Amino acid sequence: MQITSVVNQKGGVGKTSLSVGTAAALAERGRRVLLIDLDPQGHATTEMLGLPEVPPQAPSLAKALTKMWKGPVEELVVSHPRSNIGRGGAFDVIPTSPGMFDLIRRLDQFRVPGWQLARVVQFANYDHLIIDCPPALDVLTNNALAATHGILVPVQPDRTSIRALRLLYDQLAYVEQTVGRPPIIHYGLVPGLYRRPISHYAMAALNELHTFGLPVLPHIPLGVVMNEAAANGVPVTTFAPETIQAEAFRQIAHAVDTYHANGPAPAVVPAEQDFVFEDFITDVSDARNHNDNGARKKLYDLMPKRPRPPR
Ligand SMILES: Nc1ncnc2c1ncn2[C@@H]1O[C@H](COP(=O)(O)OP(=O)(O)OP(=O)(O)O)[C@@H](O)[C@H]1O
Ligand SMILES: [Mg+2]
Repeated sequence: MQITSVVNQKGGVGKTSLSVGTAAALAERGRRVLLIDLDPQGHATTEMLGLPEVPPQAPSLAKALTKMWKGPVEELVVSHPRSNIGRGGAFDVIPTSPGMFDLIRRLDQFRVPGWQLARVVQFANYDHLIIDCPPALDVLTNNALAATHGILVPVQPDRTSIRALRLLYDQLAYVEQTVGRPPIIHYGLVPGLYRRPISHYAMAALNELHTFGLPVLPHIPLGVVMNEAAANGVPVTTFAPETIQAEAFRQIAHAVDTYHANGPAPAVVPAEQDFVFEDFITDVSDARNHNDNGARKKLYDLMPKRPRPPR
């Protein structure tokens, strides 16, 4: 299974469009694909694929990441019902859920933030996992970077994007070092969201992007068809298969899939530590629920009581 994160902390640069487009194009190639909506905004789930958010009482990615729920990853998955799928392929989604925003605060409390997502997905049975990251260098993005084999980075050709890229590469180095994982593969930069004919200003920025020495993949041309596809809740490869946008996603999917054929080095998910504070809390709370014959006891009812000092 090959894991690809679509990442850029800069907002509105086309991460979600690229995640959905690449995932759908891989499924069209006959690959089994799971798209993970890791952005608390939930745009991939709701705005682009027309799927509902997970109901509050159901198993969810937010609960799995904080170990409030420990079932198999398959129970988090829904199939996208209206995409073109090649023979043997699949297009499944782990949708957004309530609790995704709050999750950032709760994940930050883990002693070693970083490996929670890798643990949740490690037994998933797909050819490709595509992770749509939030527009932030936060603990969710760090989780994606810890788990991932490679990254796709959508960029707009302007000065602020060049600075954003420098910050992103600092963060990649930081995550590689702190979680102790092999180097993250750069599948490439994906330029987009600029008008034709291209201005001198945008051309200068595009040229500067090339100086990063990274592969530059086909750009995604601006087109209202992207918004129309989203309004219909289907990927553009299904909604308008003949368009230049659909073709660009196919070429990007081909580039990602080529690494699959070559078998990238996986990050090794470390074994759990002997004592994990979150497991301890979960066990205490399970014991509380088990012993609770109707009356909801407070967690500290189970704690040893100190005698009250005499008054
Ligand atoms: N090629 C395109 N042509 C026209 N509109 C596009 C194209 N690509 C993306 N858009 C639109 O631009 C907006 C931003 O794109 P998208 O949501 O993919 O960016 P993002 O980086 O995921 O944003 P965020 O940082 O908020 O998660 C969306 O409304 C999307 O429909
Ligand atoms: Mg997005």
